Amino acid sequence: MEAAPPNFHFHDLQPAPEDFHTDVIAGLSRQTKRLSPKFFYDELGSQLFDAITRLPEYYPTRTEIGLLHRYGEDMARMLGNDGLLFELGSGSGTKIRVLLEAIQPQTYAPIDISRETLSMSAGAIAQDHPKLEVHAICTDYSKPLELSGFFDVQQRAVFFPGSSIGNFDPTQARDLLQRIAKLLGPDGRLLIGVDLKKAPALLHAAYNDNQGVTAKFNQNLLTRINRELDADFDVAAFRHEAFYNEKLGRVEMHLFATAPQHVRIDGCCFEFQAGESIHTENSYKFSIEEFQTLAAQAGLASLRVWQDDDALFSVHCLRPI
Ligand code: AVJ
Repeated sequence: MEAAPPNFHFHDLQPAPEDFHTDVIAGLSRQTKRLSPKFFYDELGSQLFDAITRLPEYYPTRTEIGLLHRYGEDMARMLGNDGLLFELGSGSGTKIRVLLEAIQPQTYAPIDISRETLSMSAGAIAQDHPKLEVHAICTDYSKPLELSGFFDVQQRAVFFPGSSIGNFDPTQARDLLQRIAKLLGPDGRLLIGVDLKKAPALLHAAYNDNQGVTAKFNQNLLTRINRELDADFDVAAFRHEAFYNEKLGRVEMHLFATAPQHVRIDGCCFEFQAGESIHTENSYKFSIEEFQTLAAQAGLASLRVWQDDDALFSVHCLRPI
């Protein structure tokens, strides 16, 4: 391992393991069992997600990166060039690298729940951009962000790519956007990727790929629970399924028990009937107007929207009202 470059700083606010335990027990104790998608991203989960982003059926990543290449200069102008740039859910860092071709902030502060992935990818960005101060923050951004101690007040921007906002129910999404608006301050800008409504067949293919990578990604959540919470899920007995719920405008991912199951998690017992599901993810899809309405309810006004020629994906620039 090479020594960390001098412009790289790591702040570990990683949620305690008890949080995972508490959330899993609570989610599986409900009438309709559910697990939060934020727990997908252990080391293997982050790798599987990366593999998803390269699948032919999974159009969002490729389309958003295309928009960043094509309109990066415009986006940079709207964001303002200096100051502090946060990224929520920075993952492997592919998207910020494209944006950094157009924008030169003083400080880049990637925030991610996945410790290993964050330290690797942010460290590499610090290495490749010696003039950029990189402050990586390992935390769960779905909880209130306490970052006031780290940074001076200065021109701020938040980059929130990937349509991860779609993983939140509308009420939670509004809350999160409100917290982002507060973090931005009056002159800040939000650049956010939002997946668009489209033919259900395209959505179905994107979340049920031929190679079964999405199925592995979904099932890995149970493998993680087995390992970290001393549980005994028979992972192969849970079948991946994803479908578009037209009424609610979201893709739902589930794990269906193929036969009755009896699972122990750290001494607690959970029963599954044959065909019973664990709801593991929602991925809301928006029209441009629907997203703008949601953002306005959180105190964010739209400055500009970019979308690809096939209207698959959108990137919005917004500012606090
Ligand atoms: C985390 C929002 C980028 O919902 O599309 C990909 C995660 N889940 N395939 C999404 C995911 C299944 C993804 N995002």
